[in-house]
Amino acid sequence: MTILVTGARGKVGQAIIARLHAAGLPVRAASANPAELTVPAGVEAVELALDHPTGAALDGVRQVFLYPDPTGIDAFIKSAQAAGVEHVVLLSSSSVLDPDAETDPLASHSLKVEQALAASDLVHTFLRPDAFASNALGWAYLIGQNLPIQLAYPDADIAPIHPDDIADIAVEALTGDSLKGRAVTLTGGQALTFRRQLAVLSEVLGRDIPLVEITHAEAEQQMSQYMPAPMVASLLALWAAASAAPAAVADTTQTLLGTPARTFEQWARDNAAAFQQ
Ligand SMILES: NC(=O)c1ccc[n+]([C@@H]2O[C@H](COP(=O)([O-])OP(=O)(O)OC[C@H]3O[C@@H](n4cnc5c(N)ncnc54)[C@H](OP(=O)(O)O)[C@@H]3O)[C@@H](O)[C@H]2O)c1
Repeated sequence: MTILVTGARGKVGQAIIARLHAAGLPVRAASANPAELTVPAGVEAVELALDHPTGAALDGVRQVFLYPDPTGIDAFIKSAQAAGVEHVVLLSSSSVLDPDAETDPLASHSLKVEQALAASDLVHTFLRPDAFASNALGWAYLIGQNLPIQLAYPDADIAPIHPDDIADIAVEALTGDSLKGRAVTLTGGQALTFRRQLAVLSEVLGRDIPLVEITHAEAEQQMSQYMPAPMVASLLALWAAASAAPAAVADTTQTLLGTPARTFEQWARDNAAAFQQ
């Protein structure tokens, strides 16, 4: 029976599709914009906008890998139940565990979807990753231009997870029994500060990456140019808190699958081309 992978242009979605297809499993790739989607030969691609799910994407589907979108979740659950879906693996977030998750703009996005699935009769597996290693792509343009990285909290400590690790864990959740129905908090195996991440990137790319410390207010002003104010406030508060205490390492591919977690250095090597001019 078909496995539907939503958010198919995303880093995690792409990696899951490749793994399921290579294993010979029937997989359908669903994207808000299938015209810009690349999938392996033989994989069906369909349009599915998670904020207003419609269409035949769920026909014949028994399992779904779901990107969270609270706007369309009730309609999605209704369609999934009508189509005979049995199990949903959600790409949630570790932020749902924060005490202010109900009101935080980043955390509440995933929390609302978790709550809707928990209230349904669909079997649900919640994957709750902490920061993705791929967030470092936000520095790619500046590094490519040899411009300094400006950070208010360079010593924020996190244990970033390689998106391929999330994909490996998601595939186990979809195809095995060890994770089905569970909620797991995921990180990489190694805590490192933004300063250390930049040092790793510098080593991998073979050139200096200047770091300039800026104030909280300066960071707020810069970030407000490309994201809503509540999100800026949430991210800066997160990084301030992460500067005050060492990052916790939670479940990883090592603890869940018995395979070593990919390091940030490996992620940097895998993605070095994105940092070249
Ligand atoms: N980044 C983190 O540190 C982090 C941490 C914890 C949880 N999460 C959660 O993980 C989810 C995804 O995070 P993300 O934004 O970092 O993932 P992403 O893989 O960069 O993209 C997420 C989705 O955006 C859509 N998209 C729109 N334009 C795109 C483009 N040009 N290229 C690729 N995809 C595009 C894709 O869905 P379509 O193909 O359907 O358009 C894709 O699946 C979010 O729900 C977030 O809350 C993230």
